[in-house]
Amino acid sequence: MAAARNMMRAVRVFEFGGPGVLKLQTDVPIPVPKENQVLIKVHACGVNPVETYIRSGTYARKPTLPYTPGSDVAGVVESVGQHVTAFKKGDRVFTTATLSGGYADYAVAAANTVFPLSDKLDFKQGAAIAIPYFTAYRALFQKGCAKAGESVLIHGASGGVGIAACQMARARGLKVLGTAGTAEGMNMVLRNGAHQAFNHREANYVEKIKEYTGTKGVDIIIEMLSNVNLATDLHLLAYGGRVMVVGCRGSIEINPRDTMSKESSIIGVSLFLGTQEEKNECAAAVLDGIEAGWLKPGIGSEYPLENVAKAHEDIIHSSGARGKMVLLP
Ligand SMILES: NC(=O)c1ccc[n+]([C@@H]2O[C@H](COP(=O)([O-])OP(=O)(O)OC[C@H]3O[C@@H](n4cnc5c(N)ncnc54)[C@H](OP(=O)(O)O)[C@@H]3O)[C@@H](O)[C@H]2O)c1
Repeated sequence: MAAARNMMRAVRVFEFGGPGVLKLQTDVPIPVPKENQVLIKVHACGVNPVETYIRSGTYARKPTLPYTPGSDVAGVVESVGQHVTAFKKGDRVFTTATLSGGYADYAVAAANTVFPLSDKLDFKQGAAIAIPYFTAYRALFQKGCAKAGESVLIHGASGGVGIAACQMARARGLKVLGTAGTAEGMNMVLRNGAHQAFNHREANYVEKIKEYTGTKGVDIIIEMLSNVNLATDLHLLAYGGRVMVVGCRGSIEINPRDTMSKESSIIGVSLFLGTQEEKNECAAAVLDGIEAGWLKPGIGSEYPLENVAKAHEDIIHSSGARGKMVLLP
């Protein structure tokens, strides 16, 4: 019995492959935090598309098998390593990375990737902060150099990164246009800071965007599905505009000449290439947004840990996002 008390449920991946390789196990040892680490009782964990790419084995970064997926956890501190002074048992926290994996009852994280979770947000919202908001900030400001008064089209605004980008851009004084694939998604986009929403499943939606932006076009596009939209995006830009490639699931043919007529740029974004200084900047902006009250993650589908395979199916073959997908242990 004593041993069972040190065991937890965790999703384990023993081989790369389809969602079926996600195995929920009940006898995984609860990790013990080392000197500069924090052990967190997980109350919610964000599901990010990248976790499906990694699981499938086709992604550039491959963890050593077996592993537990998940980085964006919110919960309560269970115990801390001997050098940790910033947190204590019982603190509400969220993480931007875990060392042991977030799809579990408990997760251990380096103390410098753990942040206090404001009472303004619940645990599901805490689990929706890290990858979505840090990516949105990097795309908009660190790489896209967005400025107040500019316009931004968030092409795929109804998911985790999209809602984050809508809130951040609106808070910084940009004119915000967003797309979604359903009426519900469009309403969510409008409730989260967009001035105007369009449906990217409608045949003529690009014409509607052009009508709305007139001859000037948009200054920035945050692109969630570049392999589908990049060629079209180049025709929606203003002079000196930039397309930020955030999401891409394949290749696409573009005419490079389309970048010449407006001296526009196509810029890749990779959250994982951020320096420590850039990560600190993202964290400061996020914590400031929570305190100011405009940063409020919108939660979409919720899945118990038992249904993790379904969550991985659904995030890739979505019938329409309505905010951030979360797993609940
Ligand atoms: N570069 C990086 O560092 C980085 C970091 C984080 C995420 N990402 C990538 O960014 C993408 C979005 O991530 P997420 O967490 O927001 O995923 P998500 O929550 O699953 O949302 C996906 C979004 O894509 C939209 N979408 C679907 N079809 C589209 C189309 N034809 N045109 C434009 N948008 C379309 C969806 O809209 P509907 O469902 O309403 O149709 C939804 O808004 C993913 O590909 C992810 O891998 C990249």
